[in-house]
Amino acid sequence: MKLNKYFVIDFDSTFTKVEAFDVLAEISLKDDPDRDSKVDQIKSITNQGMDGSLSFRESLEKRVALLAPNRRHLTQLVTVLREMVSESFKRNKEFFQKYSDNIYIISNGFHAFIDPIVTEYGIKPENILANRFVFDEQGNVIGFDKENPLSANNGKVEQLKRLNLPGDVYVIGDGYTDYEIKHSGLANKFYAFTENVGRENVLSKADHVTPSLDEFLYLNKLNTAISYPKNRINVLLLENVHPVAVQLMKAEGFNVETYSAAMTENELIEKIKNVNVLGIRSKTQVTKKVLENANRLMAIGAFCIGTNQIDLKEATRKGVAVFNAPFSNTRSVVELAVAEMIMLMRNIVDKSAAMHKGKWDKSAKGSYEVRGKYLGLIGYGNIGTQLSVIAESLGMKVLYYDKEEKLALGNATKCRSLQELLEKADVVSMHVDGRESNTNLIGPKEFELMKPGVIFINLSRGHVVDINALRENILSGKVAGCAVDVFPYEPVSNDEEFKSELRGLPNTILTPHIGGSTSEAQENIGNFVPGKFLDYINTGSTSNSVNFPNLTLPTLENAHRLIHIHANVPGILAKINHVLAEHGINIAGQYLKTNETIGYVITDINKGYDEQVIAQLRAIEHTIKFRVLY
Ligand code: NAI
Repeated sequence: MKLNKYFVIDFDSTFTKVEAFDVLAEISLKDDPDRDSKVDQIKSITNQGMDGSLSFRESLEKRVALLAPNRRHLTQLVTVLREMVSESFKRNKEFFQKYSDNIYIISNGFHAFIDPIVTEYGIKPENILANRFVFDEQGNVIGFDKENPLSANNGKVEQLKRLNLPGDVYVIGDGYTDYEIKHSGLANKFYAFTENVGRENVLSKADHVTPSLDEFLYLNKLNTAISYPKNRINVLLLENVHPVAVQLMKAEGFNVETYSAAMTENELIEKIKNVNVLGIRSKTQVTKKVLENANRLMAIGAFCIGTNQIDLKEATRKGVAVFNAPFSNTRSVVELAVAEMIMLMRNIVDKSAAMHKGKWDKSAKGSYEVRGKYLGLIGYGNIGTQLSVIAESLGMKVLYYDKEEKLALGNATKCRSLQELLEKADVVSMHVDGRESNTNLIGPKEFELMKPGVIFINLSRGHVVDINALRENILSGKVAGCAVDVFPYEPVSNDEEFKSELRGLPNTILTPHIGGSTSEAQENIGNFVPGKFLDYINTGSTSNSVNFPNLTLPTLENAHRLIHIHANVPGILAKINHVLAEHGINIAGQYLKTNETIGYVITDINKGYDEQVIAQLRAIEHTIKFRVLY
C-alpha cells in the first residue's frame, strides 16, 4: 500500500517482550560454573554502556565475549523469542503485512535472531537493520561486523541518516536510543512503547506514550485488528479482588486501577465517570445515583455470588451488563457441609468442648457413621447436586426435593414433596436460593415431620429457617445436632456482636457465613469474572449475565459485529435492518434476545461499512448503547 509515512520499530522489549541478550545468557551460560558472576558482569557492562562510561561498541564487544554464543544457542534463542512476541504485535499482524514497504526494524541487536522472528510477520528482509555476528568454522561467535553503524554509539541515528527515507518518520520503541532518532531531527514523532517496560527517562521525552501497538495504530488511523485500543478501556477493581483478576485484565491490555477498600457512594460517583468496567465485591454499593454518573460504564462484575449491592434495574436501563461468580465457591460449601454432617453425627462439638474443660467422656453413645444414612437435600441446584455426588461417594443415600424439574445425579432419588423428604431423611441440608417466598420454608410444622434425632444443616440463606423453631427442636432433642452458617440478621462487621437464639445450644455448630470463603473460591472468582468481562467486551457474549438477556455468540471471522442495546419497545430490529438494507450491507448473522427492560441485538455484517451507517444506527430512537467490534 502506498503511504508517505515510515514506521521505525525497535526489536528488544518492543517487538518482543524481552531483551534477547538476557534470554541468550540463560541459554549460552546454562552449564557455565561462573554463570552468576558473568551475568552480573554483563549487567554492569550494560549500565556502563548506558551511563556513557563505556562506548557502545566496547560494551557490545565485552558482552558478546562473555556470552560466547554459538549457532546452536542462537537457534534455541529464536525458538524462545518466537513465543515472546508482544501481544499487541501478534494481534496486528495485518498491519505489518499491509504496510510492509513502510515498516523498518532498526535494532542494536543481531540479524541472527531478529530476522527469523520479524519476517514471519511480513517484514521485508531488506527493511531489517541490525548487527551481524562473525562466526568461526565451528559455528562459534567470534565477534561482529564493526563497520556496521548499529554497533557504535548513536548507531540508530546514523543508520537512519543513511536510509534517507522520503516521507514522515514515526519511531516506536522503549529505549533512549529510539528517542535519539527524533532528537536528531530524523523523525517526526517518537512513541514510547510501554507494553513491556516503561523507562522514566524515555517516557518524559515521548510525543505519545503508547501502552500497546493498538494505541499507536488508533492514533494514526491505521488499519487495526480491533476497533478500539484496549488500553483506553479503564477498569476499576475495588475491595482487593484476587490478584489473578488484576493480572488477567492487565494481560489483556486494559488500563487497570485497583483499590483495596470499598468506595463510598460519593467517592464512586466521582470516580465512575471515566470507568468502563467496574469490579466490586459485596461492600461497594452501586446505587442509582452512582449509575446516573456512569456514562462510560459497559459492565460491572461482582466478584462474589450476590448482586443485591447493585441497583440491577438501573444498570439494565443504562445498558450496563452485570456479571457475578455463581458457582465459584460451590465446592467450598459442599466440603463444609460434608465435614459438618460427620462431626454432628459423632457429637464432636460437645465432646471437644467438654475436653477443653477437662472432661474425658469416652463412649459410643449417640455416635453414628454417615455411611448408609439418608441425606435429604432441599434445593438441587449448583450446591445441592455437587453435595449429592460427594455424599454418595461416602456411601450415603441421597434424596432431594426441588421446585423445578431436576435431573437426578448418580443414584439420588427425587422426592415428590418436601414432606416426603422430611419424613425419610436422617440429615436434612438446605440448599435453596434466597428468594423471598422461601422465608421460613422450614418452621415448626416441617420440624414436626422430621425423624427424631435428625441432623439439620443450613448453609444457604438465614431467612429460610424459623430460628426459634430450630432452637425449640434442638432443646427438645428432636434435632440431634445442627450446623448453621447463615442467619436472618448477620453482623455488618467483625466488630459487631453476634446475637442469636442459637448461641449456647448443644451439638450446634455456628459459623459466620464462611461456607464459601476459601482461598480456592476467591481464586476461582478471580478467574471467572474477568472471563465474563472479556467475552462481553471482545465478542458481545452475555452468557451468565445477571441482568442482560443471555446470548452466547460464535467467534467472528472476516466480518464486523454491531452490538445494539435498546429499550425493549417494538420495531427496533426492523429499523436496524432498514438502515443496513439502505446501504446495501449484507447481514452474515443476526441474534436478538430481549428481557422486560432491554433488547440486545447482535448483527454480523460482511466487511465494509462507513461512518454514516454507524451514525444512523446510533440515532435509532430508544438506543441505549451501540458499539462495533473488529
Ligand atoms: P442454585 O440457584 O443453583 O440452586 C438453588 C435451587 O433451589 C434451585 O434448583 C431452585 O429451583 C431450588 N429451590 C428454590 N426454592 C425452593 C423451594 N422452596 N423448594 C425446593 N427447591 C427450591 O443455588 P446454589 O448455587 O446451589 O446455592 C444454594 C444456596 O447456597 C443459595 O441460597 C446461596 O445463596 C447459598 N450459598 C451460601 C454460601 C455460604 O457462604 N454459606 C456460599 C454460596 C452459596
